[in-house]
Amino acid sequence: MTPLAVAGLRKAFGDFQAVDEVGFEVREGELYTLLGPSGCGKTTTLRAVAGLEQPDAGRITIDGVDVTATPPHRRDIGMVFQSYGIWPHMTVFANAAFPLQVARVPKREIAERVERALAAVHLDGTESRMGTQLSGGQQQRLALARALVRRPKLLLLDEPLSNLDAKLRQAMRAELSSLQKELGITALYVTHDQAEALSLSSRIAVMSAGRIVQEGSPREIYQRPASRFVADFVGTTNLVPGTAVGEGRVRTGAGELAAASCRAPAGARVLVAIRPESLALHREEPAAENVVAGEIDRIMFVGECVECHVRVGEDVWITRQPPESPVAAGDKVWLRVPADAVSVLDPA
Ligand SMILES: Nc1ncnc2c1ncn2[C@@H]1O[C@H](COP(=O)(O)OP(=O)(O)OP(=O)(O)O)[C@@H](O)[C@H]1O
Ligand SMILES: [Mg+2]
Repeated sequence: MTPLAVAGLRKAFGDFQAVDEVGFEVREGELYTLLGPSGCGKTTTLRAVAGLEQPDAGRITIDGVDVTATPPHRRDIGMVFQSYGIWPHMTVFANAAFPLQVARVPKREIAERVERALAAVHLDGTESRMGTQLSGGQQQRLALARALVRRPKLLLLDEPLSNLDAKLRQAMRAELSSLQKELGITALYVTHDQAEALSLSSRIAVMSAGRIVQEGSPREIYQRPASRFVADFVGTTNLVPGTAVGEGRVRTGAGELAAASCRAPAGARVLVAIRPESLALHREEPAAENVVAGEIDRIMFVGECVECHVRVGEDVWITRQPPESPVAAGDKVWLRVPADAVSVLDPA
């Protein structure tokens, strides 16, 4: 049974189409992410799944049951909102127990289930603390425990890490990932943070202007972006205009390159996308295929690497080198481009 299937979902606010024919399926035990820029319709889609937003068209099924017209509290869903919504005047225990009290679960069972949920998020021992006495990361985990305590079939998470500082966000990302796998949770996750999406997700749907524009594993999305939008939005990429020479070859301002994924007919205008880390930088011309010559325009030290901006003909190509690399502006260099690291995109 498919835990969640969304088909032909549409939602407009006035004459603005916020969600436009969105469809996807989330498999058992998967963390499926909607990734896209602000305003692309992620939260609206999530709220429709939760039953908090009535769609104009489309069908939502949970475990094969059509819930499109089912009210939110009758859907078997746990939700973590961007603002965790921890009640400050209530203890940790009371916060986590609340959904079970509403569902009139017997007291003894509540105690057991709350203990288990708090232990799962490593908050056992904090039961009697007040909500206000928790750090941002602890509040986030408590929100997760509160969503898990009812053991929902499906967990919805809307930018759950966006309120945390960078360091804590990274730690919670790892913790959330192992927790989700440990407990076998099926989750629909929403974020505009591409690094978060790449590191957490089983699969990603990239959204733009109310539509899903590409779906795939994090690797597929990163290494084989299907459009300029995805290549640009996910990670840093070199985008260079070119012309297809025939299957498997493209011509750019820097000369002709083998491009394994090129299927465009000869003469077609294309956009060549190459990730910075796939370029090897040489200080002598290497005896190899797929080499372009250039000159370092500027270098930027960013801690874990130096980013070299290399002028290649009319274009600037970015490459990342180890921080101790002896590179300087004005150096003449050669970049080797692996043929299978070149994505060939439609320029439109
Ligand atoms: N209740 C509403 N009334 C009017 N317009 C709305 C309403 N809710 C959302 N919108 C609009 O619909 C679009 C999509 O909103 P949504 O909240 O789904 O975006 P999002 O992808 O979650 O963005 P963000 O990353 O900023 O949270 C936005 O342009 C937003 O202004
Ligand atoms: Mg949102």
